[in-house]
This record gives sequence, C-alpha cells and structure tokens, in this order.
Amino acid sequence: MNQITVTKPFMPPLDEYVEYLKTIWESRHLTNGGPFHEQFETALAEYLDVPYVSLFNNATMALIVAMQALRVQGEVITTPYSFVATAHSVIWNHLTPVFVDIDHDSCCMDPTKIEQAITPKTSLIMPVHVYGRTCDTAAIGEIANNYGLRCIYDAAHSFGVRDKAGSVLRHGDLSILSFHATKVFNTFEGGAIVCNDINIKKRIDYLKNFGFANETKIVASGINGKMNELQAAFGLLQLNYIDDAISSRASIDHLYRELLQNIPGVRLPEAWDSETHNYSYFPIFITPEYHMTRDDLYEKMRGAGVHARRYFYPLISNMPMYSGCAGSKITNLPVANKVASEVLCLPIYPDLSYEHVLKIVELVK
Ligand SMILES: Cc1ncc(COP(=O)(O)O)c(C=O)c1O
Repeated sequence: MNQITVTKPFMPPLDEYVEYLKTIWESRHLTNGGPFHEQFETALAEYLDVPYVSLFNNATMALIVAMQALRVQGEVITTPYSFVATAHSVIWNHLTPVFVDIDHDSCCMDPTKIEQAITPKTSLIMPVHVYGRTCDTAAIGEIANNYGLRCIYDAAHSFGVRDKAGSVLRHGDLSILSFHATKVFNTFEGGAIVCNDINIKKRIDYLKNFGFANETKIVASGINGKMNELQAAFGLLQLNYIDDAISSRASIDHLYRELLQNIPGVRLPEAWDSETHNYSYFPIFITPEYHMTRDDLYEKMRGAGVHARRYFYPLISNMPMYSGCAGSKITNLPVANKVASEVLCLPIYPDLSYEHVLKIVELVK
C-alpha cells in the first residue's frame, strides 16, 4: 500500500549536491568551521534577515547551549505543548521547568498565565512558536523586561517566518531553529541559534566548540555542537529551493482549508497571522461533535496508509519525568490538555499530490 507520511523531506537535485561533495573530497575539510559552514552561516543570516546565526548539529544541542550562553539559573517558564526536546534541554542544564498553559487558538504560551508562575528563582521564559505561528512576543517581551528575565524562543518550526516588521527570529534574546529532516528546511539533522549581539554569538561559538577561543585558550566548558561540511553544503543548496518549497506548501494549506470547511467537529487552524508563513504543519482539531474520537480517526487513517501525527500528544507535563514538576497538574493546564486531546496534524510537504490531499480529506469527511 502506498503510505502517506505526515511529512517528506525536500531534497534538492542530487547532481547539484554531488558538485559540493567533490569540493569536500578535494579539500578534505570535513568539519570545524569549514568553508561551507562559513558560507552557509553568512547566507542564512542574509536569507533570514537576522544579524547573527550560529550553526549547530541539531536544535536540541542549540537549545542546551543557548541556556548556557545566557548563564540561565534556577527556573525556566516554558510550555507543555511542544516536542520533548524543549523541556529536555532545560533538564540537561540542571534547571527546573515550570509549565504554563497555552492560548487556545494559537497553541503558543498564554502570556496572561506567565506572571503567576514567576518566583524569585525564575530566570528565563522559553516559549515555542508552535507550528510556525508566532507567540504574543509583545506581551512576553514586556513581562521579561519588567521582571528582568531572559527570553529564548524555541523557533524550531519558524524557518523564514516574517511579520510586518521583519523576521520573527528577532524577538527575545535568542531564537533556536531546527533543520531536522522533518522540518520545512532541512540539512538532514541541524539547527541554529539566532542572536542580535555579537558578544553573545562569540560565546555561543566557543560553547559549541568545546570552549576553544583559539588553539590554546579554552574559555568555557563547552561541548561539541558543530555542524559539519556535508550538512552545511546541503543547507547552502537548499536555500536555492526553499522559496518554491514553501509556496508549494502554501497551495496545499489553501486546498485543505477549502476542502475541509464546515465538517461538524473539525476545527481548522486559524489563518496564519504572519506576513510570510512557512506552512510547516496543518493541524486540525477533532472536537466532541465529530462522529468518532480523534484517536479513532488517527487509527482509521493509519489503516488506510495515511500517517497523520498527534503533535503534540502526550503533553510534556503528562510524561512521567515531568508530571511532578511545578505547573504540571491538569487543572493548571486545561487548555493544553484539551488541545492535545483534539489535535491531528495532516500530511503536508511540497510534493504531496492533489490526489493524496483528496484521499486525506475523504478520510476526514
Ligand atoms: C519545537 C521543537 N523544539 C526542538 C526540536 C528539536 O529539534 P532537533 O530534532 O533538530 O534536535 C523539535 C523537533 O525536532 C521541535 O519540534
């Protein structure tokens, strides 16, 4: 049976990648800030329209290093409605996650719930731009400012997203991107930290390379977070194709919206509010009016070869290692628990065919 997965990585033409490989084979410069790494970092900052980018081997490592770079201590206010790496990165820094609820429509952290979670130990707010939808950055920024807190956005889903004033990655102290194979823009595995301050970028770059400032000077107990030349070359090549890939995704998003209208019990995502969205996910929400449960629909689709995914279920706060954390109680997170029980992300990727979209829509109908 022809299986339809929730996403399929976009791959550039192989013969074009082979040209990059030939260069790598000749130079034997495989990693450690090689020429493709340097070119990709510059090209990416330009494409994203941000001051500084530091490339990483994946976004989880970038999240871990981001907190080290800002010398975060104590408690981190974050969201339970995310991929586990968001909370895991807090634990890997021996910090304490504190969960606050999400906004029903955006699925991002609800800024009105943040202040009540702040304690004398809080030092960081770490929201997630879920599905590439931008958090209420004005409200979150004001709280961070008022209380003297740092803010790191997990922007793993927000490659290329822009609002009227520019890239959404400009908000907060740092933003983290993921270039994992499942993301809009991929380098097989990969990630980046975006920042506005050259001194913080320098510290990030030391930290991702064992703390080396030069051949003999080690200024921090860093780690190995470097992106290698194979990934960087692939990223450079991908940049030539990303705009077309995003516009193909946009067409699929529009088609879903048109065909899935007015089905009792199926709530569609609000129209994306950014000037330039990246159409990274297409979540639908199965409410009690639907004729079967969300999980029954998920199983039915699987049975028909369609692998929709329940992003994000289970909630991080309901996982055994987080269920005892501050804020994890279901009564504290009613919206996140509701949304996690209703969500189903439908397949979306640039070459998803019209026939496959129709098949998926028929299954939902
Ligand atoms: C919101 C979020 N944060 C972090 C990550 C981790 O990214 P990576 O797989 O590049 O480590 C992901 C996805 O993989 C994600 O969806």
